Parts: sequence; structure tokens; C-alpha cells
Amino acid sequence: MADTRTIERAKEHFGKILEQQLQRVERLKINVPWTDYQKVKPITIGVLGGDGIGPFITNEAQRILQHLLKKEVDTGKVVFRAIEGLTIENRAAKLKAIPDDVLAEIKKCHVTLKGPTHTPEKGDGWPNIESANVAMRKELDLFANVRPVRIPKQGIDWTFYRENTEDIYAVGSQGIDVTEDLAIDFKVITTQGSERIIEAAFDHAKRTGKNYVAIITKANIVKTTDGKFLDVAKKVGERYPGIRWEGWYIDIMTAMLVNEARRKDFQVFALPNLYGDILTDEAAQIQGGVGTAGSANIGKQYAMFEAIHGSAPRMVKEGRAQYADPSSVVRAGAMMLQHIGYTQLGKRLEMALDVCGQYEKKLVMTGRSTGVTGKEFGEYLMATVADSRLEARWEQYVKA
Ligand code: IPM
Ligand code: MG
Repeated sequence: MADTRTIERAKEHFGKILEQQLQRVERLKINVPWTDYQKVKPITIGVLGGDGIGPFITNEAQRILQHLLKKEVDTGKVVFRAIEGLTIENRAAKLKAIPDDVLAEIKKCHVTLKGPTHTPEKGDGWPNIESANVAMRKELDLFANVRPVRIPKQGIDWTFYRENTEDIYAVGSQGIDVTEDLAIDFKVITTQGSERIIEAAFDHAKRTGKNYVAIITKANIVKTTDGKFLDVAKKVGERYPGIRWEGWYIDIMTAMLVNEARRKDFQVFALPNLYGDILTDEAAQIQGGVGTAGSANIGKQYAMFEAIHGSAPRMVKEGRAQYADPSSVVRAGAMMLQHIGYTQLGKRLEMALDVCGQYEKKLVMTGRSTGVTGKEFGEYLMATVADSRLEARWEQYVKA
């Protein structure tokens, strides 16, 4: 049996978490306006290389974006800003998920494009610092992780609205070993946090002419927190009369995504953080692998766009980093273009990624010298975006 001191210590720890989270709820109640990119001048785009192959692929993505936004850069409407120091070495030296000076630089930018960053895991030699992704999402309050997955040929057009700041991630590095045998983590769901992500999903559906939103939980088992998420969905759903919604449990939804007869019916998903983490990897794999998907982390004030694969340190060690495929971070860049108001340009870049990477494949990347380099693939993408027949080329493949 644990003595009362052990229990008191755990209660005190829990008490601190409650205090933090209640303060957070108060902050969430403050109404922050959305950044209006029509009015911002210049729009500052920060570029964070990250670890491993990150600097190679983000450099390529930046080169492509600078090329596509040449006029805007020349007229001072858009500014690119390289931000150094979001590397595992620097983060470990400062013992910080994001070193203070790096965070200050990030906050000078409206949006950032980020390469993969190494996340330390128990026993891998690096100090146990929090994931840079998770820290950035929390620091900049990037509450919506938007992950589209499209396979036009199969009629699949999914957009996931993954809550990005709460759930098991909110205090993921503050769980407690109560005794040697008892470990407890905490799952945090708030009314405000649920409302804003569910609303974002319904707004997206409305904006893009979709009429169905799936709300994913495990509310039959995780009754209190997932129950709240579902309750909030009921209230939000009432405000969107033209849009149908249904609650689905995460387990059956993972099965539905591989059910070829049913999966086309799903359009927009809203889900708590961890279920979203898992389901979006599954969905990306169905599209062709996690390297083919882009990911947007959207908040009202800031937004960050990232590759969703890892940093592949082995490619760098073996001297193959120039062969790393920049597609995922370029796709994130295409989402960024749309987010800051260059909608058509962003869509063209997405089409070029589909044509070059999935259909036409005139140049193929293999991750080694048997294929082309990231830079050569980047040239192929830029030439494809510039082609006046791009749309027809894309449709020809999709409808084939
Ligand atoms: C993702 C990743 C991150 C997450 C990791 C790297 C912390 O898996 O963006 O989905 O768990 O959110
Ligand atoms: Mg993930």
C-alpha cells in the first residue's frame, strides 16, 4: 500500500495541472481575431530547416515558393526569413523544446514552413525535451491540424480537422509515476477547445460545399472527455442546418477508411488530438504514404506548415540528403499559399505535385543516386506549375 505521503505528492502534482489548465481555459475565452492576410504587409514567411534531411527539403520548398511568389517578393508584399536553431543539438544544449531566441524569431513571422524535427524518446541518448512540434502548436496556439487526403481517381476527398493542443498531448510530458507500479497520464478536453476545432471543420464543409461531417471519439468508453467533445459537436452542429453530422467511434472509423465500398462517403472529420494523429497517418498511407501528405497547423494569429514524415538522419549520414523527396514539405507550402490568400497558385502547385509525383512521373525520386535529386524534382515541379495546360494534364490523369 502507498503511504499517505505518496498520495499527497500525487494530489499536489494533479492540483498544479488543474491550476494550469484552468488558467488556460480563461485564456481560451478571450476572443482573438483571425489574421486578415489581405491587410497584412509584408506577409512574413519564416523557414525552419529542422533536423536531418529537413534543411535540404525546406530549402527546395523555399526556392519553389520564392519562384512562384517572385512578383510579391520583388514588390515587398511577401518576405522570406530563414530561422536558424530549431535543431536537436541546439534544443538539447538549451534543454528547451524551442529555445527562447528561436521562438522570438518565429513570432516575428505570420506563417512558418517547417522541416521535420527530431523528437527525443526515452532512452535514445537525447535529453527528454518535449517535441518541437507539440511545443510550437501550444506556444502559438495552433489549434487546428488540417490534413487533406485526396485520391481523385477513387473519389476520395477527405479533410481532417485534428484538434492540436489538447487531449493526451496537453500535458503529455507531465504524467506521474505515482509509485513504482502505477503510472498516470492526463487527458484534457475543454469546451472552448472542442468548440473551435469542430466549428473550423463545419466552416470548412460549408465553404467547400460539403454536407457531411464525421465526429470521431471513443465516447462509449472515455465518457467524460470524449463525451464532452461529442456534446459540443451536438451544439455546434445545430448552427449548420445544411450540414449533416454523425458521431463515429475511432476503432470502427479506422476500419471504414480501408472499406473501399464506404470510404468515399466521408468528407470532413473533426477529432481529438491522439485519434487525429493516428487516423491521419492511416489516411496518408492510403493516399500513397505519409511522405505524400502535407500538414497545416492553424491558429487565429499564426500558422505553421510542415512535412509529416521524420528527419531521416540515416540519409544524411550516408551522404544521400540531396536525394530526399521534398514533396511533403512542398505540399505544406501549397497549403500555406492558400492560407495566405494565393488560393489559385496553391491549387496549381498541388496539381503539379499530383501530376509529377503520382501520375506522369517523368522524373522519379528513389532516395538515392538511382533517382533524381530533390533539386531536379523541384525544377520539374516549377516547370509543371508554369505549364498553361496543367489543368488539362491533371484532369486527363485523374479521369483516366
Ligand atoms: C504528427 C507527428 C507528431 C505528433 C510527433 C512528431 C510529435 O506524429 O505531426 O502527427 O504526434 O503530433
Ligand atoms: Mg503523427
